Amino acid sequence: MVFIGREAELSWLREYAGADRSTPYVIYGPEGCGKTALALEAVRRFLHWYPRGVALYLDGKARRGEDVFKSNIQLGDVLADVAGELLGRIGGAAARAAVWLLGRVVERLVEKQSPSNILVIVDELFSAVGVREGAVVVKHAQELGDRHLRSLKAEAGLIPRPLAGVRIAYLVFTSEGASRRELSRHSWAHTALMWNMDKDDFKRLNEAVGGPDFAAAWRLCGGNPRCLFQLAEAGWDAERYLASISSSRGVRWVVAKAAELGLTDALKEAVEDPDILAEPSGLRLAKLLESRNFVVELSPAAIGGVPSRDPELGVGRLYAWQTPALRDAVARALRG
Ligand SMILES: Nc1ncnc2c1ncn2[C@@H]1O[C@H](COP(=O)(O)OP(=O)(O)OP(=O)(O)O)[C@@H](O)[C@H]1O
Ligand SMILES: [Mg+2]
Repeated sequence: MVFIGREAELSWLREYAGADRSTPYVIYGPEGCGKTALALEAVRRFLHWYPRGVALYLDGKARRGEDVFKSNIQLGDVLADVAGELLGRIGGAAARAAVWLLGRVVERLVEKQSPSNILVIVDELFSAVGVREGAVVVKHAQELGDRHLRSLKAEAGLIPRPLAGVRIAYLVFTSEGASRRELSRHSWAHTALMWNMDKDDFKRLNEAVGGPDFAAAWRLCGGNPRCLFQLAEAGWDAERYLASISSSRGVRWVVAKAAELGLTDALKEAVEDPDILAEPSGLRLAKLLESRNFVVELSPAAIGGVPSRDPELGVGRLYAWQTPALRDAVARALRG
């Protein structure tokens, strides 16, 4: 499958990697909206953007050493040097060692390749290590990217001098609403939204996968590529697809939990208008739906387009259902 569209997001990443960044960004967005695909595409294009640049992609959930990293350069010898130490430290979860490892890899890269700038992308951090430990990783990333701190460390002899002069830009991708909530309380990380694909890109994707009815796919998936692939797997049968997500995503559990908390009426309202989640009385329901990745709080800070309000797709001004299909599945479960 070829990578389609996302030009606005790619431009954002390119620009982000080109300047000094002392504050890492945590990019959050719906499950399956294409965060991982975008990160890998940025790595693929990186040498074209910055001929002396190095992009590192780290998959926090990878279980095997060779799946952990993707890069635009031959990382082999650099990694070989640290792999032994790495494996000793990571045990089960690679992300636990991510900070340590990245710091070391960046150091070695600077020594061996003298790159002009380094883009580090950590994917699946929070789902691998949880919100609290993930926050520690992001804080550490801030220190790694902060050029001023690095020059102080170099003066104190704590890090090699050339490391002080490199541009290091750090990004974390997450679909966990809870992590965004936690991090947006701190000054050492920015959060920004990545939304589902826009209509033009999604149309091209639909053509590429042979979707028979674009209007129906848009109405169900609202630009979410994973939704489209799953719809294809369901033989383009919307009913079958809705039935499959109802069982796999715990829709009935969410509806039952809302009832237990006395939030059934609020949930019915949120199906009609997700913006009620932004009201003080909607906070408990917002947290429940966010924790299960059903809704996303929209933010004007976005790396591409921010979706416009569209009640039919379940998109409000402040909150949106991750896909119209999830909203529809909840609506059905509410009807019993
Ligand atoms: N721009 C694109 N062009 C082609 N395929 C895409 C594009 N974006 C995403 N996809 C495909 O859609 C599927 C979901 O994308 P991806 O796994 O990147 O989403 P994600 O946001 O990382 O999901 P999660 O939140 O679960 O990590 C994948 O099969 C991916 O290859
Ligand atoms: Mg992903």
